[in-house]
Amino acid sequence: MIQLQNVTKIYSNGKTSCPALDKVSFEIGKGEFIGIIGKSGSGKSTLLNILSGVDHPSAGSVEINGTLVSALSSKKLTKWRAANIGIVFQAFHLIPTLTLMENVMLPMEFNKKGSRKKRRLRAAELLESVGLAERMNHFPDHVSGGEKQRAAIARSLANDPPIIMADEPTGNLDSENAFHIFSLFESLVDEGKTVIIVTHDQDLAIRADRTLQVKDGRIMNPLSRERELS
Ligand SMILES: Nc1ncnc2c1ncn2[C@@H]1O[C@H](COP(=O)(O)OP(=O)(O)O)[C@@H](O)[C@H]1O
Ligand SMILES: [Mg+2]
Repeated sequence: MIQLQNVTKIYSNGKTSCPALDKVSFEIGKGEFIGIIGKSGSGKSTLLNILSGVDHPSAGSVEINGTLVSALSSKKLTKWRAANIGIVFQAFHLIPTLTLMENVMLPMEFNKKGSRKKRRLRAAELLESVGLAERMNHFPDHVSGGEKQRAAIARSLANDPPIIMADEPTGNLDSENAFHIFSLFESLVDEGKTVIIVTHDQDLAIRADRTLQVKDGRIMNPLSRERELS
């Protein structure tokens, strides 16, 4: 379903350039729950940005569900992404002038999905499912980091995308909330969605079907582990 072939990413600032990703190849199947782990600076966010089409690879290809994502123009890419991928950014990227409710409604508006009333209802349900029922009408600056994170997760689900990608989605949460959010991702996997999560947290990473370890821009030998079904 997701195929990366020889993906290389080089950031250059004129003088120096070193590859953030170095000929990365792997496949991810539909409905898999993947944990991407690795030290800070190893290339995890770069990998996720390229997988989601937020960033273009310097070389190599990304194919998702038959679409050669790495070859799409930015306009087509934006449209494709809105329908296919829910993204939770490491820095949330919530719009500060919109309430949490309006932030969650935005992707549905972009996709022209349903009536305004239906969008509002779905946004409310999603915010409730991440424990933000009481915070819907607050602005991002008036809620905690953990609450912003949960709002970003609710927003990523707005268009019911088949693939969810999240960069350190539990990084700002205490262990109880992190557990709750991880369970939410697991239930999405149970619904048949493909979930790819970058995480520092080993305890959470082992709950994934499979982990990909990134080191110096390369994937180490995969440590495969069956997810315990409880
Ligand atoms: N926009 C950028 N410009 C230049 N270098 C970058 C940029 N983004 C990331 N890097 C470099 O690429 C490497 C991988 O970064 P990143 O993917 O953010 O790692 P991680 O998410 O694992 O912490 C690091 O050495 C980082 O400094
Ligand atoms: Mg990162």
